[in-house]
Amino acid sequence: MNILEYLSHVDGYAETARERQTLERACGDLALPRDFAAGIVDRLHPKEIEATVAEIREETATAKTFRLTAASGNLLPPFRAGQYVNWSVTIGGVRTGRAFSISSPPHERGFYELTVRRQDGGFVSPYLLDEVQVGRTFTISGPGGTFYHEPLIDSDDLVFLAGGSGITPFRSLIRETVERSLSRRIWLVYGSRTPDDVIFKRELQAIARRHAAVKVRFVISEPPPGYRGSKGFITADLLRLFIGSPEGKTFYLCGPEQMYRFLDPELDKLSIPRRRIKREACGPLSDVTKEAGWPSGVSAGQVFRVTIRGGSTFPAAAGEPLLNSLERNGFSVPSHCRSGECGFCRMKVLSGSVFTPDRVAVRESDRWFHYVHACLTYPLSDLEIRL
Ligand SMILES: Cc1cc2nc3c(=O)[nH]c(=O)nc-3n(C[C@H](O)[C@H](O)[C@H](O)COP(=O)(O)OP(=O)(O)OC[C@H]3O[C@@H](n4cnc5c(N)ncnc54)[C@H](O)[C@@H]3O)c2cc1C
Ligand code: FES
Repeated sequence: MNILEYLSHVDGYAETARERQTLERACGDLALPRDFAAGIVDRLHPKEIEATVAEIREETATAKTFRLTAASGNLLPPFRAGQYVNWSVTIGGVRTGRAFSISSPPHERGFYELTVRRQDGGFVSPYLLDEVQVGRTFTISGPGGTFYHEPLIDSDDLVFLAGGSGITPFRSLIRETVERSLSRRIWLVYGSRTPDDVIFKRELQAIARRHAAVKVRFVISEPPPGYRGSKGFITADLLRLFIGSPEGKTFYLCGPEQMYRFLDPELDKLSIPRRRIKREACGPLSDVTKEAGWPSGVSAGQVFRVTIRGGSTFPAAAGEPLLNSLERNGFSVPSHCRSGECGFCRMKVLSGSVFTPDRVAVRESDRWFHYVHACLTYPLSDLEIRL
C-alpha cells in the first residue's frame, strides 16, 4: 500500500493515539521522516484553521447558518457528525471563543456550516449574527467532542432529543444518515418555544416525508392559539407515544441546561439505563449560585481580586467563570468546549478558594494539586493563579 492509499484509508479515522501511531509506523515502514507523519496528522487534526465566511443564511428570526470554507482553499479536516468547533472572535479588544456544533454532514468536506442562535444578553452570538459578513476570515479550532454515534457501543435505533439551537448536531447526524444511506432508525423530538423558532423546519419535514426511517416531532412550549401539533415540553408520556418502547434505543440529548434538568426525571420514568443516554456539553451555567454546593454566604455579584503569579491583578465576579474574567482582562487562555469537559483551559490555583460544579470532570490528581478548568470555575475569595 503506498502512502496515498494509506491516507485515503485512514482519512477521517486517525483520531486516537493508537491510530496516529499506526500512521506513523506506516510512514516509518515507507522510510518517510517522522515529521512527514506529524504533518499529515496536523492536516487531519489541526489545532486551528483559518476559515472564511462563504455564505450566510437566515434560518429563523434569531438564527443564521454560516458556511465556512478553508481560507487556504483546501478541504477542511474530517469530523464525525455531532462534533463541534470553537469559533474565535475579538470583540471590543476581548479575544474569546464559543463552541458551535457543525450542522452540515461530514461527507461535505468543502465547508462546515455553523448555525448560531441569538442568546439575549450574550457576548458572542449577537456579534456573529449582527456584525459578521460574507468574506470575513476567522480562526476556528479543529473539530472535537464526543457527541457522535459510536457504532461499537450505540445501537442503530436512535432517539434525538433537541432543544433550541441543540438541533445543530442532529441535523448533521440526520443528513449523514439519509445522504449516505446508513442503516439507522432515527426519532427526532425537537422542543422550541414557538413554531417560528424551529430551526431547519422545512428541511427536517422534507427528510421525514422522504425517509421512513426518520421520524420527526416538534414540541412547542408556547404555542399560538389553535396550534395543532404537540404542545408543552418533552415528557415521558410524549416519548412513549412517539417512539413506542425505549428498549434497545440510544438517547442523545442536546439543548440548554434547563432542558437536561427537566428531561432527567422524565427519562428515569422510562427506566432507560444511563449508559444508553448521551448528552452534549451545554456551555456555562445561567446561574451558578443555584448549583448544588454553592456556598450560602457568597453572591454572584461579589468581586474578588485575582493575581496571576508574576503578572497583574484583576477583578473577577464570583458568578462569572474565571475564564471570562481572564479574557476580559486581556489574557488569552486556550479553550475549546467552555463546558468543563475538554481540559484546554486547565490552570493551577496557588491560593484561595474556588467553586467548580460537580458535573465538571476533573482528574483526581488535578483535585489534589489544585488544577481547575477555568471555564467552569468561579472565585470564592481572592486568588493567586498560574496560567
Ligand atoms: C458543545 C457545544 C456546542 C454548541 N453548539 C451551538 C450551536 O450549534 N449553535 C448555537 O447557537 N450555540 C451553540 N452552543 C452555545 C454557544 O457556544 C454559546 O454558548 C452561545 O452562543 C452563547 O454565547 P454568547 O457569547 O452569546 O453568550 P454568553 O455571553 O457566553 O452567555 C451565555 C450564558 O453564559 C452565562 N454567562 C456568560 N458570561 C457570564 C457572565 N459574565 N456572568 C454570568 N453568566 C455568564 C450566562 O448563562 C449566559 O446566559 C454550543 C455550546 C457547546 C458547549
Ligand atoms: S474549555 Fe474545555 S474544559 Fe474549559
